Amino acid sequence: MNPDPQQLLRVIAPVQDGLERMRNVIALQLADASPAVRDMVEHVGRFQGKQMRGALVLLCGDASSNSTDEHASIAAVVEMIHLATLVHDDVLDGAKVRRRVACVNERWDNQVAVLFGDYLYARAFALSTDLSSRLCSRVLAEATRRICIGEIEQAASRYDFEMRQERYEWIAGAKTATLYAAACELGARYPGGHESMGANMRQFGYELGLAFQIIDDCIDLTASAEQAGKSVGTDVADGKVTLPVLWAYARADEARRAAIRDAYTLEGIEDRVARLRAACDLAGGVEYARARARELLNSAVARLATLPAGPSRASLEDMAGFVLERNH
Ligand code: IPE
Ligand code: IPE
Ligand code: MG
Ligand code: MG
Repeated sequence: MNPDPQQLLRVIAPVQDGLERMRNVIALQLADASPAVRDMVEHVGRFQGKQMRGALVLLCGDASSNSTDEHASIAAVVEMIHLATLVHDDVLDGAKVRRRVACVNERWDNQVAVLFGDYLYARAFALSTDLSSRLCSRVLAEATRRICIGEIEQAASRYDFEMRQERYEWIAGAKTATLYAAACELGARYPGGHESMGANMRQFGYELGLAFQIIDDCIDLTASAEQAGKSVGTDVADGKVTLPVLWAYARADEARRAAIRDAYTLEGIEDRVARLRAACDLAGGVEYARARARELLNSAVARLATLPAGPSRASLEDMAGFVLERNH
């Protein structure tokens, strides 16, 4: 895996101006009189994320000939909701590093991080209600509900080594693909109408987002924290049995299965991923998961055939390539 660092920059190039407007909207929304909140906003703003979901709102708008003056604000709402989910997710996962800086729960504590995540949600939804159509609020409220269900179901499935792939994908889809799907749908059909275009782009976003999470789960097992810019190995530490491990477990004999369970559960293991790698064919599992991600991305790209050719459609295709190749 050797991704080209310029690849994402090229993908978002057609919507650079819209992303700049989006960043300005976010900065304005998160300007707060409270010094303690200002500290936290400054902290999480120190390193930008990849802004893929915001870019998708803008790219899908452009590629569907549906851009409006409000698309940059929709992108801002989506990115703020995404940030809120990250702040809460790091509490749930006990993560320490995010976007190359300390997680909010690490720099402050869990209590403050939960409140700050709520604060971000509240800002995002307040902004969405300022928009001229209620579609944005409706789609994103439903997406947020599904993200919560995904995280709750994931917690309910910890240490389930015999989980079916369908359930793994359902959880990954709910917690991650849902927001991708919502971003693409809103881009393609906000302020309303255009149901079939919206449904097609929603499917595109869902498959892209599911592949994104599958690759993220591979990164958690294969990348260094330095490469990823965030804590890695946390899935194993938290009992999340992801697709590469499910594949390896299903093919392991009883002794190896016990060794896999030990890598997850025995106390005092310093490097659980290394232990897991020694216990089973983790590389084979990662290869299988990457092949599944590739299949989803091919299906997603095929959905773009209905859009007129142009730079934004080409960027959506390239984004699929980035999702597969990324290591951060
Ligand atoms: C991280 O998403 C959370 C997952 C769904 C795996 P990103 O990797 O898009 O996070 P940022 O915004 O670029 O930091
Ligand atoms: C993403 O799952 C969950 C969200 C919807 C935020 P992960 O727990 O794998 O995300 P990272 O690896 O912490 O970014
Ligand atoms: Mg996490
Ligand atoms: Mg992860």
